[in-house]
Amino acid sequence: MSLISPIAWTPNHGVRILDQTLLPGEERYLEITTVPGMAEAITALRVRGAPLIGIAAAMGVVQGVGPEGSGLSPDLDGVEAVHAASAVLRATRPTAVNLSWALGRMVERAERHGTGPGLRAALIAEADAIWAEDRAMCDRIGEAGLELVPDGATVLTHCNAGALATGGKGTALAPIYLAHERGRRVQVIVDETRPLLQGSRLTAWELQRAGIPYTVIADGMAASRLRRGDVAAVLVGADRIAANGDVANKIGTYGLALAARAAGVPFYVAAPRSTIDLRTPTGEHIPIEQRPPGELAELGGRRLTPEGAAAWNPAFDVTPASLITALITDHGLLPPSGLTERLG
Ligand code: MRU
Repeated sequence: MSLISPIAWTPNHGVRILDQTLLPGEERYLEITTVPGMAEAITALRVRGAPLIGIAAAMGVVQGVGPEGSGLSPDLDGVEAVHAASAVLRATRPTAVNLSWALGRMVERAERHGTGPGLRAALIAEADAIWAEDRAMCDRIGEAGLELVPDGATVLTHCNAGALATGGKGTALAPIYLAHERGRRVQVIVDETRPLLQGSRLTAWELQRAGIPYTVIADGMAASRLRRGDVAAVLVGADRIAANGDVANKIGTYGLALAARAAGVPFYVAAPRSTIDLRTPTGEHIPIEQRPPGELAELGGRRLTPEGAAAWNPAFDVTPASLITALITDHGLLPPSGLTERLG
């Protein structure tokens, strides 16, 4: 099974991204060679998903440094240029901790190396390491969650936490892909994920490419579907997991967790170590990105609300640890408690 790769280097270490805003209608790739270009791609959700925006931001930092290890703008030296690039990229999206985690690694690598020859190569190596580690973490998440997806299982997922959202086979979708690879029959119920439809546009697209049977439902149908009793588990990803186990993920996740609890269906959150932020004590401390109201008021250029309608559009919500059965991590299945003791 060959999964889609949403990001790649070009021969000159520009970045080639799959523009996810155009899926499933069009598979178009863009080449990014500037820091503002990468910032725009992240803000506009052309690249998206917590682990993938970390990788993309790391590759974006490389675009700010010239071949001689100097800054591309004449008034900045190489290390200063890395700091400046990092500040621009960090400001794009506040919720997924992977972004600032990856940028922190790039800045640290630049400071260790210093301005001058070899800086760009060192930054490319660091971005490659972040990417390779993410791919390996996805594989380990797949192994850790495999027992939750037995032969014949139907699982429900929200948003997109698959290959399109990571450097590998995904987080929430990793156990599903692995089960499928091992010959297990798996069915996926895909929440549409309003307002930007990451479920019906992206998760459905990548499951279809992989030959995994799926059924799309509108978000408001999930509670009824869970009550039918044929869903073995809910599997979702995360943008940030606080030290107390509270999870920020795509808006709608909290409601899904409440519905799963009411229906007695186990609710799992899959995420790599880079998504667990032990410096954020609880979910209340996680910054939640507010997106433009237009994302709710229009769809594909068509108005959905009366002109001037007010809209509230947070991109993420927080699910309290008490609603989470377990975290599926590259460190195995973990209870959503005692994370500092286990991982700190
Ligand atoms: O706004 P998005 O599309 O970047 O939101 C993505 C999610 O909420 C995912 O569930 C999360 O980033 C985990 S991706 C492995």
